[in-house]
Amino acid sequence: LKTHLLTAIEASAALDALEAVRVEALGKQGRVTQLLKTMGAMSPEERQANGPAIHGLREAVTNAIAARKAVLEQISLDAQLAGEALDMTLPVDVPAPGTVHPVSQVMDELAEIFADLGFAVATGPEIEDDWHNFGALNIPETHPARAMQDTFYIAQPEDSADAPMVLRTHTSPVQIRTMVEVARRHAGAGAPIRIIAPGRVYRSDWDATHTPMFHQVEGLVIDKGITLAHLKWTLETFLRAFFERDDVVLRLRPSYFPFTEPSAEVDVGFSIEKGKRVIGGDEGWMEVLGSGMVHPRVIAACGLDPAEWQGFAFGCGIDRLAMLKYGIDDLRPVFEADVRWLKHYGFAA
Ligand code: PHE
Repeated sequence: LKTHLLTAIEASAALDALEAVRVEALGKQGRVTQLLKTMGAMSPEERQANGPAIHGLREAVTNAIAARKAVLEQISLDAQLAGEALDMTLPVDVPAPGTVHPVSQVMDELAEIFADLGFAVATGPEIEDDWHNFGALNIPETHPARAMQDTFYIAQPEDSADAPMVLRTHTSPVQIRTMVEVARRHAGAGAPIRIIAPGRVYRSDWDATHTPMFHQVEGLVIDKGITLAHLKWTLETFLRAFFERDDVVLRLRPSYFPFTEPSAEVDVGFSIEKGKRVIGGDEGWMEVLGSGMVHPRVIAACGLDPAEWQGFAFGCGIDRLAMLKYGIDDLRPVFEADVRWLKHYGFAA
């Protein structure tokens, strides 16, 4: 019996088979249990003769079951762990890492170039009031820039007497905010200003070279004795640093902006290299920005004395700069968030 039971215990391949053997041996009706029960009817001599063997059998079977149980449990645990283990050789879906957008890249480059020239970065709200976007900039009520087809107006109650808020149509309102703040801080006495203001601007326009949202960088210098020569030197230094070429030449063309007097549109010279236009040289001219000496009326509107303070300002399309520097030929994908496009023109994050 002992051999039979021990063999059965060793042979049980799973915990439920082992449990069946335990019931067969040690259960209420089990064969070892039955043997133990027969001892009650034995004479003391018989009990002395058979007792040790029967108890020994029970102990051997109990120990064997416990030992086998431990082994089976270990096997089942190993199997479970093996099933749950990670297969490190499987291919994984790695989310595509982002890249720096060319427009962000250019904004960073601008901030760096102008920081070297002593300019701070200023910001303003994208939802502007009429006064900051137009009025203080000497843009008359009748100016075409205010017309519905160019400016996005924010809806307001019909009975409102206030001029509607607008999505700023240029970064020039940051000029106003900066000068007003300086006038306030110095109680009208003023102080030199050197800022650039990069950011989003909005106009109701949509084709290969116009998107309803685009980016500009504004520049503003206010000080004593500032002239057009300072403007030209600053723009030249900036564009040479930006395009990383010493042969970048500028051409200032007389122009008109309500908030500058005189005003100049600035063209940058390009040449043809391997059939492509590259900035540098003077085989042709491309318009890159608007600029001028800040109109005395604008300085006065901000609470500064135009007899004491003069300055220049410029406004430049950032997307345009990015396209020229990085050879992008359609503006629209610049804002379409297509990862393939970003990969092509993006910069390592
Ligand atoms: N705000 C003008 C524009 O959006 C650009 C500009 C800025 C011109 C500053 C002169 C001075 O076209």
